[in-house]
Formats: sequence, C-alpha cells, structure tokens
Amino acid sequence: MSIRILGIESSCDETAAAVVADGREILSSVVASQIDIHRKYGGVVPELASREHLRRIVPVVREAVEEAGMSLQEVDAIGVTQGPGLVGSLLVGITYGKTLADSLQKPLVPVNHLEGHIHAVFLEAHKVRIEPTLPAVCLVVSGGHTVLYEVRPREAKCTDPGALWHYRKLGQTRDDAAGEAYDKVSKLLGLGYPGGPILDRLAGAAGNVPAPVKFGPTKIKGNSYDFSFSGLKTAVLYHLRENPDYLPEIQQREAAIARGERKFEQLLPLCGAKTLGLIREFQNAVVRDLVERTLHAAEELGVPTVLVSGGVAANRQLRCTFEERLRRSGLDVYFPSMALSTDNAAMIAAAAYPRFRNHILADVTLNASASLPIA
Ligand code: KG4
Ligand code: ZN
Repeated sequence: MSIRILGIESSCDETAAAVVADGREILSSVVASQIDIHRKYGGVVPELASREHLRRIVPVVREAVEEAGMSLQEVDAIGVTQGPGLVGSLLVGITYGKTLADSLQKPLVPVNHLEGHIHAVFLEAHKVRIEPTLPAVCLVVSGGHTVLYEVRPREAKCTDPGALWHYRKLGQTRDDAAGEAYDKVSKLLGLGYPGGPILDRLAGAAGNVPAPVKFGPTKIKGNSYDFSFSGLKTAVLYHLRENPDYLPEIQQREAAIARGERKFEQLLPLCGAKTLGLIREFQNAVVRDLVERTLHAAEELGVPTVLVSGGVAANRQLRCTFEERLRRSGLDVYFPSMALSTDNAAMIAAAAYPRFRNHILADVTLNASASLPIA
C-alpha cells in the first residue's frame, strides 16, 4: 500500500496543493496563480498575497484531494512549506496544514521550499523511470532564489536526519535573484509582470539583429560560485537613459499592457530591432552566467549530474545552453517540466515523504521561517 501525502505550498504568490504517492507518483497537482492580482504593481505585494492565499487555500486543497480520487481521511500525512518565503503567505498554508492535521489526526511534516525545488527534478525524471545519479550540482533559480548546491547521497553523519540527501551550499546571489532581474528589466522596458516568459520569447524572436550594447561576464570577488544580477539590471537602466529613442516604444507597450494586451503576438510588433537586440543581450548575459558558474562547480567537484529547478528553469535558452554544453562535457542535465519548474505543491509532498518516513514531524507549535536554509 502506498503512502499518500497531501502537500500544501503558499510561500509566495501561488496557492498550491497536491497528492503524491511514495514521494514520486503525482496523483494530483493544483496551482492557483495570483499573477493577475500582482501584475499591476509590477511584483508580488505581500499583504495582497496572504489575503489571496486565505481565499484560495480551502478550494485548492479540496480540488487536489478530489482529483486524486480520494477523501481527506485517506491522506497518510500532510506536508507543508515552512519556509523560506513571505511570512504572511507561509502562515496561511501552515495554519491550514496544522488545523487539518489536528482535526484529521494525521502527521504534519514541515518542508523546506528549496528542498522541494530539488525534488521537482526527481519527480519529473521519475515519469520516465529515471533516477538522476548523485552526487550532483543543483541550481535553484527563481524570482526569489538563485542558489547553487551540491547534492550527495545521505551519509551517516548527516546533520539533517529527515533529508533524503545531504546538501552543501556552494554559492548564491549577492543581490537580485535571476528571475527578479527578468522582472525588473521587463518593467523598465514596459513589458509587464512577470518578465521571464515574455523576455524569453522576445529574445528568441530577435534573430541576428545587431546588438545595441554588449554586456560582459559579471566579475565576482571571492566565492566564484556566487551570482550577482543587479549590476546587469542597472546597466540596462543606464543604457535606456542614455538612449531616449527607446522611450516612445516603451510608452506604447505600457499602454498596450494597461489595455490587457500582454500576449507575445501583441507585444512583438511593438518592439523594434534595437529593443529586441537589447533583450537578446540581456538574456545572453543571464544565461551565460548561470550556465558558466554551474558548469564550473560541476567540473571542479567532478560530479556526473547537473540539476536545474525553479521558475527560471522554464527558460528555453537556459535549457538549450545547458543541454548543449553538458553534452559536450559528458554530464547529464535534468530539468522539471514547466509546470514543476515554477512553484507547486507536488514538490512539497515529494520532499515530505522521506521526512515522514524518518519521523521528522511537526506539531501545533510549527511556525513560518522566512529564511529557512537547507544547507
Ligand atoms: O519559482 P517561481 O514560480 O517563484 C518563485 O519562487 O520566485 O519563479 C517565478 C520567476 C519569475 O521571476 C519569472 O519572471 C521567472 O521565474 N520566469 C522566467 C521564465 N518563466 C518564469 N524567467 C526566465 N524565463 C522564463 N521562461
Ligand atoms: Zn520557488
């Protein structure tokens, strides 16, 4: 008989619930996105996010359980994101998880959101019955995080008794996350929120238009596995200020977005060759930095596998570049599907499974932890 865990995720702007059997078989996964609510502010507004989680959490959990063809009573345990994330948002999921666990007399498993993103890669690979070989280097890259980990099989002296694997943080962003840089540059260009998906498509449509500016590799003093994206965003800002000819187009796109015309097909005709060239150069710089630092880590550590997860892992150029570069180096690279790359609760239920098996449970005193580390 399989162990079926209900996962609950509410760390940022997605209210999500899912049921996963034995940590790998997704029985249901429901995600209610709040993008439409935060769009007009150009980013997630924490207070609005927690209010929306409150409205959505009950129907989302109900839908996930129904879609899995079961009742709440049949769930074996409840896994809930404890952190990192927005405290007000986390508290909605945690409070609901605690209440459900208490009233149903089910175990409650606290889960780290970042560990969830790592499990997302394994959930995807399991669909084709593959188990990525460890040790690996794992890049978690989203709107809130850009972190590089080493992931090894569990060792006897492992400090975290509930984790399936042993993690070591190799580096992280010193300022903006990569997804945050996409969102900020998109705002500067009048292309709305979130920025990643639209900039990704526009960069792909740029072809070989001339580059109006060149962005060199980001130099990092000290730990070469650390990242930094705020300088690149500022370089885009200065370039736009120095070239006022971008302005009429930016205003046209802002007007289109205000009318709700956000689709790629609607925005592409409002982007001249110079804008497309700029977007392509920005994306080239982000992708080059993410791929080079991750590859450097994989080569120095001598691992056979690279895992990439988080919202920015949905980026086409990032996927293609990783695949191309790693094939040449003889390494394997794994990504989750688009749906499992961005925030979801299946990855939370998956990460809860080994913790449940190792009896790492929480009680009603469980609290949110805004910057909970995994390593
Ligand atoms: O993982 P996620 O859903 O939420 C966070 O934990 O942040 O990631 C959302 C982020 C946003 O910043 C969004 O712009 C970015 O991921 N993103 C992308 C793409 N799709 C989403 N960035 C680049 N290319 C994409 N295709
Ligand atoms: Zn996330």
